[in-house]
Amino acid sequence: MAEIGKDIQKAKALLEQGELVAIPTETVYGLAGNALNADAVTKIFKVKERPQFDPLIVHVPDLATAGKYVEKIPAEAARLADKFWPGPLTLLLNRKSIIPDLVTSGLETVGIRCPDHSLTRTLLQTLSFPLAAPSANPFGYISPTRPEHVNDQLGDKISYILDGGVCTVGIESTIVGFENEKPTVYRMGGLSVEAIERVAGKVNVQLHSSSNPKAPGQLKSHYAPTKKVVLGSLPDLMSQFGKTKFAVLSYQTDYKVSHQFVLTPSGNPEEAAKHLFAALRTLDKMPVDIILAELSPEIGLGRAINDRLKRAAAEG
Ligand code: TXA
Ligand code: MG
Repeated sequence: MAEIGKDIQKAKALLEQGELVAIPTETVYGLAGNALNADAVTKIFKVKERPQFDPLIVHVPDLATAGKYVEKIPAEAARLADKFWPGPLTLLLNRKSIIPDLVTSGLETVGIRCPDHSLTRTLLQTLSFPLAAPSANPFGYISPTRPEHVNDQLGDKISYILDGGVCTVGIESTIVGFENEKPTVYRMGGLSVEAIERVAGKVNVQLHSSSNPKAPGQLKSHYAPTKKVVLGSLPDLMSQFGKTKFAVLSYQTDYKVSHQFVLTPSGNPEEAAKHLFAALRTLDKMPVDIILAELSPEIGLGRAINDRLKRAAAEG
């Protein structure tokens, strides 16, 4: 198992040696390595068992530092970064050649973000390189929102997990790219589309892609527990699957069944997002055969929650 601790100097030393460290962010834990070191980046793909066509997000302490790794920052991108960094927003920007091909899977753009977590920001400020970090889970499985989630799945493959407690947002960053300065959302995430539109006006949303995905986090089946997830109206599903051992994931309603998780008793989408991945992990471990779940209201982070639930329920 990996050591879990708060020692920034230890994390720094390991990263400088080209090793990987799990780091906390406000969204989910990341599996971090030196983004400028192709060997370290190769380790990330290996440890995660992630296909090399799926590019990594690069983490920086601030917008000024991002300027070292990307070509011109479009005005609209700078405006969004000014407003929402540090925070759950990843910008797709044209990379400089100092970013290895491996990081971007050969794409001309790099996903770049400034995470909002004090430990990780301090770490990033003390390093002379940015950190490539995908979510710290095996490819395709549920993202980790606590240090123990990382240890459960990757603890025998890495030596150190920087302990930043429970992730406050709980769902991955929103990914935004630009065409002719116009923003397009490629992945729903911890920053709502409504919040982006208040700054940028109406934006395009382009989520579904298949064989050559622009954001492979958009692969149909992703964020999935090992048990089958079925989505629908919970009262209907519970009668339909009454003979099967099921667990229930509800948004707000307490269905009073023995195996269940209520995401937000008060009906708050932010609270629901914060609990979503831990809830899926908890239900996955219950002595049941199937997980029945309902969608959230399609407002604010509810849209990102629904995106993850649909992918968790997708076959193959
Ligand atoms: O909140 C987050 O974004 C977390 C934390 C650790 O920062 N990271 C995360 O990384 O979710 P990952 O690797 O699990 O998901 C990154 C997504 C992938 O779907 C990838 O395809 C997409 O970002 N992506 C990265 N670079 C891209 C690029 N240049 N163009 C299009 N999509 C990109
Ligand atoms: Mg991921």
